[in-house]
Parts: sequence; C-alpha cells; structure tokens
Amino acid sequence: MSKALDHIKILDFTHVQSGPTCTQLLAWMGADVIKVERPGVGDATRKQLVDVEGADSLYFTMLNHNKRSLTLNSKTESGKEVLERLVKTCDVLVENFAPGALDRMGFSWERIQELNPRMIMASVKGFGPGPYEDCKVYENVAQCAGGSASTTGFRDGLPLVTGAQIGDSGTGLHLAFGICAALLHREKTGRGQRVLAPMQDGVLNLCRVKLRDQQRLKAGPLKEYSQYGEGIPFGDATPRAGNDSGGGQPGRILKCKGWETDPDAYTYFITQAAVWQKICDVIGKPEWKEHPDYATPPARLPHLNEVFGAIEEWTMTKTKYEVMEICNPLDIPVGPILSMKELAEEPSLRETGTIVEVDHPERGPYLSVGCPVKLSDNDVVVERSPLLGEHSDEILSEVLGYSADEIAALREAGAV
Ligand code: COA
Repeated sequence: MSKALDHIKILDFTHVQSGPTCTQLLAWMGADVIKVERPGVGDATRKQLVDVEGADSLYFTMLNHNKRSLTLNSKTESGKEVLERLVKTCDVLVENFAPGALDRMGFSWERIQELNPRMIMASVKGFGPGPYEDCKVYENVAQCAGGSASTTGFRDGLPLVTGAQIGDSGTGLHLAFGICAALLHREKTGRGQRVLAPMQDGVLNLCRVKLRDQQRLKAGPLKEYSQYGEGIPFGDATPRAGNDSGGGQPGRILKCKGWETDPDAYTYFITQAAVWQKICDVIGKPEWKEHPDYATPPARLPHLNEVFGAIEEWTMTKTKYEVMEICNPLDIPVGPILSMKELAEEPSLRETGTIVEVDHPERGPYLSVGCPVKLSDNDVVVERSPLLGEHSDEILSEVLGYSADEIAALREAGAV
C-alpha cells in the first residue's frame, strides 16, 4: 500500500528531541528520512541517559524510528559537496541547530534556494525574530518562556514544568504541520519556502486558554478557578490553577482507594452540569439536586471545595478503575490517573499500535510510542532507529550516485 509521503525525501539535519520528533512523524507517513550526523559522534542523544552500556540510548531510539543514518562532516570541502547534492535531491531540509549554525556551515536559505528552488527548509528555533532570537533553548526554557510554567502548579507554590514535552515534541508537531502545508503549496507553485516553528510560539499556542483567561480578568474574577470560591483575590496575570479544569466545567484530581501508598491512586472528576443530578445520587447527596446553593453551576462556584470534598469522600471508597466503571455508564466524565507502568502494560494500547515493542541489535527489545495519528491508508510499521552511519554507503550510492571509489575517497578525507 502506498503511503501519504512516500514520494518525499527529507534531509534530516535534526538532533536532540524537537526536530527528530518532527522527522519521525514524517517517516511514519512514508517519507524517506535521511538523518545526517557527524562521523564518530552522531546525535548527542545517542549517548545521553544511557541504560545499556555501548548501545544507543532509549532517548535516541525512541525519537528516530524509520530513518536512515548518513554520517557526514559538513564542514569539510567534500562533505559540503555531498550536502549540496543532498539539497539538490531532497524535498525538505529539516534542522534545529542553534541559530546561525547552518549559515556558518555555508548553507544559508539564499544558498539553498539557489541550489534547489523547490526545497522546503524547515527549522525549529527557541524564539522567533526579536530580542531572544539568538538564544539556545531546551524544553523547560520553552515551557517557561511560552506561558506554561507560570500557569502550571498551585497558586501558593512554584511555577511548574509539565511532564509532557510540549516545548520539544509539541514544536516538532507544529513543524510537521507546517512542512505538510508547504509541500501542498509547492504542488501549486513549484516553489519551496521557509517554515519556522519557534518553541515559544508552539508552547504559547498550547497555552491559548490561559491567554483567554488573561483577558477575561478585565471583566472580573475567574469564577471557575478554585481561588474564587476560596475568596482569594486575583492579581493582574492569569494565576496557577492547580488541577482546576481549564474549561467551564469544574474538575479536580481526587484521591481514590489506596492513595496512601499508591502515588497514582487518583481520578480526575468533572462536575459537568448536564449530569449533576446523577453525580448527587452517586455520591449520596440527593438533597443537593434541588438545594439553591448547589442546584445550578453558578450557585456551586463558591462551594467547589465543599462539593469536591464530598465527591472525594466517595471516590476514596473506590479504586480509580471502579470510579470509571460506575461513572462512565452514567456519562459522568472521569479519568484514572494512569502511571507509565500501567500504560506500558495496557493490552489495548498494544493492539492499536499506540505502544509498540521494537527489537534493536545492540539493546534487544524495548517499548516505544507508536505513531499517534492513524490514517486509514497509511499503516505504520515502527522500524528500529538506525545505527550511526548504518546507511551511509547505500545513500551515497543509491540516492546520490557516488561510485565505490568515490565513497572510499570521501571516507579517506574524513567526510563520511
Ligand atoms: N558536520 C559538521 N558540523 C556539524 C554537523 C555535521 N554533520 N552537525 C552539527 N554540526 C555543528 C553545527 O554546525 C554547530 O557548529 P557551530 O557552532 O560551529 O556553528 C555545532 O555542531 C553544534 O550545533 P548546535 O546546534 O549549536 O548544538 P548544541 O549542542 O551546542 O546546542 C541546542 C543544542 C538544542 C541548544 C541548539 O541546537 C538549539 O538551540 N537548537 C534550536 C532549538 C531547539 O531545537 N531546542 C530543542 C532541542 S530538543
């Protein structure tokens, strides 16, 4: 079966997490992704957080499936020549070097356009144009600069970063979207273009509801925030809201049976207005159905601590799965707090390919997250990440037409 992007060649100059997330998605959509890495060194993550001595780390393997690896020193003369041929041959160049690194290598956007006007050049940078454009940026810096940290955590605690890698993987997703749009545009115009996904912009995009709340503050307190019910005045910026739900339906994380010893024995519980009567019955508070202090969503807002306190008294008598089993048939929205262990062992996620087991010659089998987007005509088989330089010869000969002697000369010159 043909795949969505199987006619597309990607010159993958990415490293660490943000860029590789993007090119892995494109590979899963069928693109031929040629990952270019420094000879003898490779992507720094190959040797970061090593758990099996001598083997590529999980950090690397889990971000670089379905790619081919070409080692190339693009700062040597013959290495530059190879890179030029790759630019002429490929459809998209994806990179997430520190600002200016590609220019210093001699591959500015202008030069790339000269070499291949159809080329799409896609970059992740920490910041867009402006005062911080020259900064190097990692995940947590992006979370802080994009508004996530200031709005995550509890009001009386430190700003917090989240476990979800919204700065790196989130920006990789944004970049993949931009590349697909640019590829479609090229079909009409025949021309490539630049695609830029700054990490700050990506995080802010995901924090959109918090900018919404910033503006709502002008109209008065944010009534769905717990601090409103607690009588605590609002400042001039969107505050941290603990586990309050971001929408108009109040929600909290509540303890379940076993919480004293199990750090994940919790459920998320949403008091959706449409099912309030059923919630009252389930938690044994039928009198709240008609009581003027509890019967309507606005009436409940000043009493949310009391309401969730009563719900928690009930959830503490049930496991998080029992809460789900009881509430789901009643359409009460709840969700167990699932640990990574539970997710890794969940059979239904294996069946859908959301979690896959992959074999690797250096490290044996390991688990990874499969393609999170499913296309009916794009069956994804997750293939292990390449070893450093594993496909150098095959790419140089098959894609670029180098002879065996020419490849030997490149190797002699330290270019591959
Ligand atoms: N051949 C020769 N040189 C190569 C090469 C190759 N195949 N691949 C990389 N290099 C060089 C680069 O040209 C650069 O050289 P220069 O500094 O002389 O210009 C050097 O290696 C290091 O690249 P750099 O991107 O600066 O890596 P770093 O480890 O110092 O910084 C980041 C890492 C992530 C902080 C930085 O790349 C960055 O800010 N990227 C953009 C934002 C981003 O994606 N952050 C999230 C990462 S998950």
